[in-house]
Amino acid sequence: MKILALLIFAVSVLAADSLVVLTRSFALAGSHSANNIKLIFTSPADIYRVSRLEGKTFKFLANTTSYTYDDYDLDCNKKYSYRVTGINGTTTVLDSGVVSKSTYTPASNLQVYDNTFLYSSFNTSSGILVDGVYYRYVYESDSDGFVRYYQQTSTDGFVFTGNKTVMSRDEVCASVTTVTPGLCKIERQSFKLNPTTGKIVFWGHFENRADYTLGELCVAEAEAGEEFDFLGAFRPLGYDSRDYTLYGDADTGEGYIISATGTNTNMNIYSLTSNWTAIDSLLTTVLVKQYREAPDLEKVDGYYYLFTSNSAGWFPSAADYISATNMSGPWSEPRAIADLFTFGTQSGGVDKVGDEYIMLGDRWGANFASEAVHSVRAAPITLKDGFASYEFYQAIEYNPTAQEKGVVAVQSGKVLSVGKTVNATSASDTNHSAELAVDGIKTVYTNYYIPSAVPFYYTIDLEDYAIVSEIDLLTHIVKGSETYYNYTISASRDGKKFVLISDNSANKSPGFVVSLVSDLTAYRYVRIDVSDIINANNGNSATWAAGINEVTVYGTPSSVNSVAKTEYTVSASVANGQYTSDFKVELSTNSSGATIYYTTDLSTPTVKSNKYKLPIEVKQSTDLKAVAIKNQKIVSQLLIAQYVIVSDD
Ligand SMILES: *[C@@H]1O[C@H](CO)[C@@H](O)[C@H](O)[C@H]1NC(C)=O
Ligand SMILES: *[C@@H]1O[C@H](CO)[C@@H](O)[C@H](O)[C@H]1NC(C)=O
Ligand SMILES: *[C@@H]1O[C@H](CO)[C@@H](O)[C@H](O)[C@H]1NC(C)=O
Ligand SMILES: *[C@@H]1O[C@H](CO)[C@@H](O)[C@H](O)[C@H]1NC(C)=O
Ligand SMILES: *[C@@H]1O[C@H](CO)[C@@H](O)[C@H](O)[C@H]1NC(C)=O
Ligand SMILES: *[C@@H]1O[C@H](CO)[C@@H](O)[C@H](O)[C@H]1NC(C)=O
Ligand SMILES: *[C@@H]1O[C@H](CO)[C@@H](O)[C@H](O)[C@H]1NC(C)=O
Ligand SMILES: *[C@@H]1O[C@H](CO)[C@@H](O)[C@H](O)[C@H]1NC(C)=O
Ligand SMILES: *[C@@H]1O[C@H](CO)[C@@H](O)[C@H](O)[C@H]1NC(C)=O
Ligand SMILES: *[C@@H]1O[C@H](CO)[C@@H](O)[C@H](O)[C@H]1NC(C)=O
Repeated sequence: MKILALLIFAVSVLAADSLVVLTRSFALAGSHSANNIKLIFTSPADIYRVSRLEGKTFKFLANTTSYTYDDYDLDCNKKYSYRVTGINGTTTVLDSGVVSKSTYTPASNLQVYDNTFLYSSFNTSSGILVDGVYYRYVYESDSDGFVRYYQQTSTDGFVFTGNKTVMSRDEVCASVTTVTPGLCKIERQSFKLNPTTGKIVFWGHFENRADYTLGELCVAEAEAGEEFDFLGAFRPLGYDSRDYTLYGDADTGEGYIISATGTNTNMNIYSLTSNWTAIDSLLTTVLVKQYREAPDLEKVDGYYYLFTSNSAGWFPSAADYISATNMSGPWSEPRAIADLFTFGTQSGGVDKVGDEYIMLGDRWGANFASEAVHSVRAAPITLKDGFASYEFYQAIEYNPTAQEKGVVAVQSGKVLSVGKTVNATSASDTNHSAELAVDGIKTVYTNYYIPSAVPFYYTIDLEDYAIVSEIDLLTHIVKGSETYYNYTISASRDGKKFVLISDNSANKSPGFVVSLVSDLTAYRYVRIDVSDIINANNGNSATWAAGINEVTVYGTPSSVNSVAKTEYTVSASVANGQYTSDFKVELSTNSSGATIYYTTDLSTPTVKSNKYKLPIEVKQSTDLKAVAIKNQKIVSQLLIAQYVIVSDD
């Protein structure tokens, strides 16, 4: 027995740590088939070695420095098995064991949610379902702050009507006696059905109308359809409380409040009484001195995941999460997720479509990038064993009423840049070399390229020809002095003659910028020229902040040059943007004798697509792509027209 125990001990000392690999099946734009698998590695190693089971043996696929690996063009509705090891120097330090994932055909009737455009809402059913009726509550305010909540009802969770007052200022704001007596405001309201009492419970972050000195929560309760009993505003157990979330477990009946306290320094986790209208006890304090905001909690397969945003005013900031199997803890250390700027958003609320969790990152673009609206970027979250991730996809396609396979992440093309050769302005020092911006590492602050001077250039040799569809720039940023890049992107077939493919000289977005490419020429080199870096807070030049964390180039490898560089274009009669009602759009081309073909499913049009004859009716949010075709060949650049129809509610 002793010998055996020793042997086991010896083996376990030598064995690598286990590596949790998260997996997501996804589609390439236009294919509507989730026949590609993304592997996401959750612990650091210098190199990941990826292999796939074929027959009885694992076949080597690649070595990569990136936290993710994409396996493309698989069969659909088939299960694949992988093994990933992490290697530091010559030692295998991590081992995933066998990890399996199935590709799938998504549900039908998919709607397109394009993250490269400024949608302000994600179309899921909302409201609380009680006896076949969905209830929702709308916050009404005026210049004196909170006026009332009114109730609306729906039979399908999408179309709501009604105007019944269920809470009003007189009662709700009565406790405010100083600064703005009798006037208040409520933020981050939650309405949830308590399965124990069968009543709808309301919580909100409660403040006087003028400032944030109260730091209170308020609570109320109602039978569905009735007016609420307002139960008061208070500091939970005496602690100040600002951003918070109410988590109610519909299965177990447990309720919790997670709330920022110590003037947003820490987060307290409280359990609620079984009616969810009172604080029971303080379970634990997490994220101590992390200054996190916007908490959202989900429970999946026995793990609680708490997603939070870093406080950075309106600017995009780093998201992270902690996880635990017990709300009292122990909780994991904070883990980075997404990229350093959460794809140009702040971590927001998590919504659900069927069995998929969707992070809805808030982009307060009107407050930092002169954008028309506050918008939301949607990213499906992959969760397993206490680990979570969400990646940037150009779009997600979804059917909000499907129970399963109702969500598919859509990548605009294959990742072409990771690990490729770079020719750039010399690096400022050996620890910030140019290669660090194509290594696929997007969540490590110190892992970035610093040029020795500004202006600077950064050229990636894709090592093969490809039609480039999207280029994402993730810059370095010094928090508190957020900066944006004035830059252009050009491309070349021979590395000598470059053609402009994206003009970002008017860019005002710090952190993460997506550029879609309309040029259908197959190129081999992609070049970024940064002419200036500007401090978003004061408009001054900020070249001291120069640095690129990552450049990601997506596209379709193409050995043949699909289209010679052309000056011909297709034009739309209606500009990209948000519209409040239906309209018709006319297409035209200056390539004489050519026919226009178009798509609305994110694919690049071909002769098999819709032939343009009459003006196209746009009745819902639409991604319209069009090309001119002559003698079976595309003879124009790609038109990308993005229209959002804003609904009334
Ligand atoms: C492997 O290297 C990575 C990156 O250098 C490091 O963070 C990690 O701790 C190392 N792992 C082990 C087990 O040494
Ligand atoms: C992949 O990495 C392993 C470990 O460093 C090495 O032994 C192997 O040669 C590499 N394979 C390729 C194709 O680079
Ligand atoms: C939202 O989805 C529902 C269900 O598929 C659909 O009926 C409705 O038209 C959609 N709304 C918008 C604004 O697209
Ligand atoms: C809802 O009712 C309020 C009065 O309670 C009224 O001022 C408002 O116009 C109504 N709104 C609608 C959309 O009916
Ligand atoms: C909720 O439950 C607590 C604890 O049992 C109780 O003190 C409180 O009165 C209840 N509140 C309501 C509104 O029923
Ligand atoms: C959660 O942790 C608390 C405090 O340590 C403990 O009392 C409780 O039993 C735990 N719950 C479960 C389900 O393990
Ligand atoms: C790198 O780019 C610079 C600037 O465009 C160019 O002068 C140089 O020849 C390039 N070097 C290589 C090896 O391609
Ligand atoms: C690069 O990093 C190493 C290890 O952290 C450090 O010892 C060295 O001083 C750094 N070099 C420069 C030029 O900063
Ligand atoms: C960006 O840089 C270019 C080249 O230096 C300059 O002409 C242009 O005015 C700059 N754009 C903005 C918005 O400042
Ligand atoms: C076609 O129209 C575009 C956009 O107006 C213009 O830039 C381009 O020069 C025109 N091409 C030709 C060949 O006239």
